Order: sequence, then C-alpha cells, then structure tokens
Amino acid sequence: MITSRQLGQHGPVVSPIGIGTWAWGDRLFWGYGDRYGAAEVEAAFQSAVGAGITFFDTAEVYGMGESERLLGQFCREVSVPVQIATKFGPVPWRFTQSSVLDAVRASLDRLQVETIDLYQVHWPFSFLLGQDALFEALAESVQKGWIRAVGVSNYSADQMQKAHDSLARFGVPLAVNQVRYSLVTRQIEKQGLLERSRRLGVTILAYSPLAQGLLTGKYTPDSPPQGARRFDARFSAQGLAKLAPVLNVLGQCAEAHDKTLGQVALNWLINREGVIPIPGAKNQKQARENAGAMGWSLTPQEWDALDRVTRPWME
Ligand SMILES: NC(=O)c1ccc[n+]([C@@H]2O[C@H](COP(=O)([O-])OP(=O)(O)OC[C@H]3O[C@@H](n4cnc5c(N)ncnc54)[C@H](OP(=O)(O)O)[C@@H]3O)[C@@H](O)[C@H]2O)c1
Repeated sequence: MITSRQLGQHGPVVSPIGIGTWAWGDRLFWGYGDRYGAAEVEAAFQSAVGAGITFFDTAEVYGMGESERLLGQFCREVSVPVQIATKFGPVPWRFTQSSVLDAVRASLDRLQVETIDLYQVHWPFSFLLGQDALFEALAESVQKGWIRAVGVSNYSADQMQKAHDSLARFGVPLAVNQVRYSLVTRQIEKQGLLERSRRLGVTILAYSPLAQGLLTGKYTPDSPPQGARRFDARFSAQGLAKLAPVLNVLGQCAEAHDKTLGQVALNWLINREGVIPIPGAKNQKQARENAGAMGWSLTPQEWDALDRVTRPWME
C-alpha cells in the first residue's frame, strides 16, 4: 500500500495525494465568494489534514494571491507539518533574474513561511529571460534556502528533459512536472512524457485528476456545473454521452469496494508509479471524499477494465 511519495529522487516526502487550491479565492472560473467562501475552503483544509493529506498545491496567480494567503493562514492553525507547492508565472515583463527572486519572496510573504517545499514554473515559456537564466535564479533560491525543490508544469517530454539538464548544471534536481492527467486525459502516456519522467526520476503531479468533477459522475445534461465549465464541450449532453461507458466501469469498481466513482478515478492515479494526483476540493465533504481514495487498491481485472475503456482518451 502506498502511504507516502517523494517529490523526485531527493525532494520532500508527501502524502500519496495532494489537494489543489486553484478554487480557493478564484472568482472568475470557480465562483469563489458566490456559492462557497473562506469558511468552506478552511473546512476543506482541516478535513484533508485530519484525513492524512498534508500536501497542498497553489500558485501565485490563483485568486490573484488569495489562494496562497488562505493556505498560509490555514497552515498556521495546525500542528502537523504541511508541504506546500506553489508556482511562478513566467510572464514577459519578468525578464531579469532578480524578478524571479522577487516573485519567490512575494510568495514566501503571502504564505508566511520561511521555505517553500516545491516551487514550480507554471508554463514552459520564459520570453526574454530564457530557460537557463530562469533555472539559475531558481537554483539560487534553493541555495538561499527559500525553496526546497524545483518543479515545472505543462512541460512536454523534451522541454522537461531540457529543464532537467539545465538545473543539473547548477546541481539542483528537477523534482516534478505538473501536467493534466486523469482517466480521460491520458495523452501523457501516448506522448512518452510519463515514461520519460520515470526515467529521469521526475514525479508527475496529476492536475485536474477528476476531469474538473466529470469523473465523480455527478453531472448530467439536466444538472450541469455552474460557471465556466458550462461552455466546455465535455460537460455538454454529447460530451456526457461519450463519457457514459467510463462512468459505467467506474461505477462497477466503486460498488465492489464500497467507494465513490471519484475515489476510484483517484485511486487509479495513486497506484501509478511516480504519480501524485492533486484534486481540487471546495469543502469538507469533497476533501474527505478525496482522501478516501488512499489506502486501498483496485484488482488487476478492474485495472484492465479501466485501461481498456479509457484507451480512446490517450489521443
Ligand atoms: N498547473 C496547471 O496549469 C494547473 C491547471 C489546472 C489545475 N491545476 C491544479 O490542479 C488542481 C486540481 O485541478 P482542477 O481543480 O482543475 O480539477 P479536478 O481536481 O479534476 O476537479 C476539481 C473540482 O471537482 C469537484 N470535486 C472535487 N472533489 C469532489 C468530490 N469529492 N465530489 C464531487 N465533486 C468534487 C469540485 O468542483 P464542483 O463542486 O464545482 O463540481 C472541484 O472544484 C487545481 O486546484 C490546481 O492546484 C494546475
């Protein structure tokens, strides 16, 4: 049974699942402040920690800093060690190494911590700054003790290899690549990214592991999600019809283990070598349910059935 995972080969040890906090403070996409707010996400945090999840993923851009602020505040309320991952936005106007150091300091400030466990580059562009200069600045942040481990996000296999090699020149290992990965977004397998990350000893942080709620099976043409997801074709009547065979197999596995569909979808990721899913949770119920994906395993037959029914989603 998997009880913990290391970020890369030398990074911090974390719980086998993390909680993503994009929705904490984000009004535009998720509707924070409308149907849920600070009290609900605080309950999600407390519930996750109580159930053994101590790893949280945020970004400076989530809620324009609010997600980092909330997470930092909640961490001070618990006595157990919590590992925080956040992200740097390589935007065109950050073209000097000192702007990278400024961004790290600003995140430390919002999070109210002395060291960030994992600092990730949010997307693979660095404009005038260049990737080598960016990674040199991040290596300097490691040397200063501001960050423990360095990661990237949304990098292809080749971009990840270059990031790995660039960081290695400064004696810093690349710990993670955070990418979209779920039963219905399996492109990283086909593209060779999963395989390459395993070879390099880079952990995959699987974002949107519930396909933004789709894999919980709670959405139907009559009860679509609120907000921006209403415009996503995957949530349309046609998209949901395409998903039905997957939900059917998930349902059979869920029944056999007395689990929910979402817990099965997350368990499939937890039990993949070198993968840590980071589902979002907006409230206590979702955090508790997502934690219930830990501590058990699908049978080889169930694994095969899920693999077969989701093969079309590798394309
Ligand atoms: N690096 C990147 O570029 C990037 C991009 C996207 C995400 N991420 C990271 O990955 C995290 C997770 O991704 P995500 O939020 O896009 O998608 P996700 O984890 O697949 O889905 C999260 C959403 O599903 C619903 N949900 C979660 N748990 C549930 C449960 N137990 N029962 C029923 N519904 C549940 C909630 O929305 P409703 O209640 O509204 O349905 C929740 O906001 C983010 O928070 C962020 O940290 C990173």
